Amino acid sequence: MKVSLFFSLATIFVSSALASEEDNALRGKRRLDVQDAIAIVKNSVRALIKDDPANAAGFVRLAFHDCVGGCNGCLCTLNPDNNGLAPFVILLDPTVNEVKDSELSRADVWALAGFTAAEVAQYKKNYIPFPLEWIGRVDVEECSTGDIAGLLEANCDEFPSPNLATPGLLEFMDETFCFGNEETTAIMGAHTLGEARPENSGFEGIGGWVPNMNKLDNQYYQQVLLSGWKQIFIDNEDPIPDRYQWIKGGNGPTDKKTFMLDSDLAIAVDFSGNLKPTGEVTCPLQGRRSCPFAGLRDLAVEYAQDNELWVRDFQKAYAKMLVTGYDTCDVEGCTAESPCVIGNENILDGENCVACN
Ligand code: HEM
Repeated sequence: MKVSLFFSLATIFVSSALASEEDNALRGKRRLDVQDAIAIVKNSVRALIKDDPANAAGFVRLAFHDCVGGCNGCLCTLNPDNNGLAPFVILLDPTVNEVKDSELSRADVWALAGFTAAEVAQYKKNYIPFPLEWIGRVDVEECSTGDIAGLLEANCDEFPSPNLATPGLLEFMDETFCFGNEETTAIMGAHTLGEARPENSGFEGIGGWVPNMNKLDNQYYQQVLLSGWKQIFIDNEDPIPDRYQWIKGGNGPTDKKTFMLDSDLAIAVDFSGNLKPTGEVTCPLQGRRSCPFAGLRDLAVEYAQDNELWVRDFQKAYAKMLVTGYDTCDVEGCTAESPCVIGNENILDGENCVACN
């Protein structure tokens, strides 16, 4: 009798100690106010971009890659399409840790880094804000508990091929992000930032898609619509695949060399039926028998003429992209001052995306 009383008391003691540990853990988790956490992330991302303006491109690309297959705070370094992104995970890691006692997940921090980078990379005058309207993206378990090495090997998704003609580009963006023609055209303008490196992707894109690769503006559309693109072949060493790409310029110090992928020019020109799996395009861009214009070209012309129109449409498409996999239907009034907590259910599980955000 005495023994069982002892065990009951001990059980009560242990379980109440555990309960208060849980309470403390929960309280601890919420110790950092979400607005303070957001300010910490934004400041640290701004500082990293001030140190090196090229970091803006890396953060914008990291958030996109995280959200292919649903935003979940993981990056698979086993997939060569993610080459070049690990340094940005590592750059953000101290900030992820600094805010781990807040409601921001790693995926939220990566999304906020992408938004902040898009803000910072604009010209200061009349810049368009990229607010974090949703928080609560769920990190996949391997990523939230593992070290950086574990984090980097989880969750391998498929990325779009750079050898896409217009229909393939539209199909990928529709299936992955529920994007229509306008959103697809607008999102591709992200390539106004950054460059492609031979050691990452096998493309010779050092120096960028546009003359000023650290500014988020509509130069990409102006470039895409120019004539004079020349196709070149790049013979890479294994495991990097051989590539076909487009180049222009480079004839003298004032003539900057820029480049494009097939999937970039696909917003202006439709290569369908004239594109080999290797990326080689068999129709000329000019003259008789040239490749036909793409259906997206008129939108590209509008964006080329109106920077503000493009940045606004890009902001909407990027915000939608960075909640991929979550149910954001029927919730309104989410703002930077009062972000909404995202539905935790991963609505991409059934291969269907829901276009209601
Ligand atoms: C068909 C779609 C796309 C393809 C095939 C594609 C492909 C590529 C490739 C091959 C690179 C070069 C990587 C390297 O060599 O380091 C790159 C860089 C980049 N991509 Fe994309 N991309 C696509 C869509 C997007 C989207 C939707 C975004 C953002 C919303 C984006 C943002 C970027 C940025 C900012 C860079 C430069 C990164 C840096 O300089 O660090 N891309 N992309």
